Amino acid sequence: MEAGSALDPTPLKGFKDFYQYTGSTRVISGRNLLESTGFEFQKEGARRVFIVTDGVIRGTGLVERVEAGITDGGLEVAGIFDDVPQDSSTEVCDSCAAAAKEAGADSFLALGGGSVMDTAKVADAVFTHGGDAREQEGFFLMPRADDGMGRPLEIAPLACIPTTAGTGSEVSMAAVIKVPDENLKIEIADFPLFPRLAILDPDTTRTLPPAVAAATGMDAITHAIEGYVSVDWSPHQDARSLQALRMIRDNLERAVQRGEEDEEARGNMLIAANLAITLALGSVHAMSHPAGAHFGVPHGVANAIHLPHVIRHNAQGSPDIADRYRDIGEIFDVSDREIGDALAEYLTELTARLGLPTRLSQVGVPEDGIPALVEGAVGDGTTLLNPREMSEEDYAELYRAAL
Ligand SMILES: [Fe+2]
Repeated sequence: MEAGSALDPTPLKGFKDFYQYTGSTRVISGRNLLESTGFEFQKEGARRVFIVTDGVIRGTGLVERVEAGITDGGLEVAGIFDDVPQDSSTEVCDSCAAAAKEAGADSFLALGGGSVMDTAKVADAVFTHGGDAREQEGFFLMPRADDGMGRPLEIAPLACIPTTAGTGSEVSMAAVIKVPDENLKIEIADFPLFPRLAILDPDTTRTLPPAVAAATGMDAITHAIEGYVSVDWSPHQDARSLQALRMIRDNLERAVQRGEEDEEARGNMLIAANLAITLALGSVHAMSHPAGAHFGVPHGVANAIHLPHVIRHNAQGSPDIADRYRDIGEIFDVSDREIGDALAEYLTELTARLGLPTRLSQVGVPEDGIPALVEGAVGDGTTLLNPREMSEEDYAELYRAAL
């Protein structure tokens, strides 16, 4: 079938009928940048900064360094919220927004991993526009000028300092947040959620436990691979995905195995995660979101487990899809006529070498949990972006294979 013909539902090459690409976050990357936090954030309009972080980061001394960086730049620390759990919820976002109001803050600074950054984004939206976190759900639904037809209204300045190299949330306009009583993760995405500033400094991942470096690194590799084969692919994102994969190839294992002494690998992984992130994902994320919501499987671990199975399945969908996986295989020196199998095998071995589990049964998912997972995956927005159309039976089969 000709790429781009009306009969092909998912052309993965040729000139696209339509895509849009935005990346409006100012990124600064380098050594000793925490000291300049205030100097840099002032340029984005911040004066009274509300720091969002978690208890683990609090124990590393990073918060004090960032606080000093803020005051050195002539800004004030209005308050600190360090109650963000590993899987943040709408309730946490609401209390964070209320605490920032109470403190008289005018800006947010997230210091942490994906959960901390997503909490700060949603809390900022609630802080600026009112309402509650649950009401923020949806894509491109934030308030706009001209009766909703104009420019989206800005939220308070947000800076992100990631302390894991994986989620890429510091340069994305999306947040994923759990709704506590519904075993559900909701997605919120719109242009104002792009942080104004992202600071990448390898000092922030110096004491990252190897298991967390491994899991978050597998999240980054999943973003790069899913983004490259998604029906929402674009040449802009292709360039980012492929360079992210090269940097992950060269740095992930080093960062996991000798993280503390390998500043170069840690710094490059922060940049790779940045390049990899995209909203154009696919069935790996569709399968991992419910695994997190129902069974608390950490996001990166769930992705590492699901990724090979989805690749095998997708690669059989069409020659175009297989070609895209072939491009990825080239980067890892994996070539085979059955590219799906070969790449899946390579990634399973990589996951095992990183010391991560490779099966759902190893992370507490029981066989009778599969129907609930299937329901979640089918309903997840990223299912629509997978290059191969997915049925309930397909998902059930993939979950069983991953068990
Ligand atoms: Fe992810």
